[in-house]
Amino acid sequence: MEIVSSLLDLRTARLSLDGTVGLVPTMGYLHEGHLSLVERAKAENRRVLVSIFVNPSQFGPSEDLSKYPRDLERDLSLLRPLGVDLVWTPTAEIMYPPGYQTWVEVEALSKGLEGAMRPGHFRGVGTVVAKLFNATQPDKAYFGQKDAQQVAVIRRMATDLNFPLEVIVCPTHREADGLAMSSRNVYLNVDERRAAVVLFRALSAAKELHEAGERDAERLRARMKETLAGEPLAQAQYVSCADYDSLEELDTVTGKALLSLAVYFGKTRLIDNFVLG
Ligand code: PAF
Repeated sequence: MEIVSSLLDLRTARLSLDGTVGLVPTMGYLHEGHLSLVERAKAENRRVLVSIFVNPSQFGPSEDLSKYPRDLERDLSLLRPLGVDLVWTPTAEIMYPPGYQTWVEVEALSKGLEGAMRPGHFRGVGTVVAKLFNATQPDKAYFGQKDAQQVAVIRRMATDLNFPLEVIVCPTHREADGLAMSSRNVYLNVDERRAAVVLFRALSAAKELHEAGERDAERLRARMKETLAGEPLAQAQYVSCADYDSLEELDTVTGKALLSLAVYFGKTRLIDNFVLG
C-alpha cells in the first residue's frame, strides 16, 4: 500500500495503477462503514484508492473542524489488510492553495435538509469531491447512503460536470442496536450512546406505518417526532419525508421517498435516513 501526500506523488502513483480504479473518499477516523465501502471497491475494481482529508470548507464556523477525530496511523492499519493500493492524504494547502476562489455549487439539491441547517456545507462537499475526482481520475467512486443528501449532491455534480465515472451508493452500516456508524459517534457519552438508537427507532416506526399503507407524509413525520419525543436526551433538529430525487418535502408519498432526521444528543449532532419504496 503506497501512501502519498503531494499532488506530484499522487500523479506518479496514479499513473502506475493499471486497470480500473475505485475511489473511496473519506475524512479518516475510519469505521466499519468506510471499510465496507473499501471492500466493495476492491470487489468491483482492479485497484483501490482511498483519500483521507478532513475538508475544512464543509465545516461551518461553529462546527467541529478542530476537534474532528483524527488518527492516521490507525486508519492506515485498518486499510492495509484490505488490499488498498494507494492512500492519498493531501494537506489543506494542497487542496486550497493561497488565494483559493473556485467553488462547485449544486443549487437546488443543496438548499433543504442538511443544507438548510449547515449553510455552505454542500458547497464544500461538492468542491472537494470534484477536486478529488479530478486529481484521482477514478472509474467508480463509493459513498455511503447514510449521507443521503450528500450522495444526491455528488451524483448531480458528477453528471453536470461530465465526470466519466460511476457514483456507487452503499447501504448504511449499523451497530447491533441499529445506530448508523459515524465517526461522530465517538463524541457520545454512555447515556447519549444508549439514547441514540432512537434515530433508528423513529425511522423504523415511520417505515412500518408506510408499510401498513400510510401515504400522508405529515403523519409519517409525526410518527418520527413522537418517537423522538419519548427520548429525553434527544433534541430533534429536523424530521423530513421528502421526494427521493428532488429532496423536496412531500404531502403525499407516491413513489420513492426519503425519511431523514437530524438529532442532537448534548453537543453531538447525528443524522440518519431510510429510503421508502
Ligand atoms: O462523507 C465524507 O466523509 C465527506 O463528506 C467526503 C465525501 C469525504 C468529502 O469530504
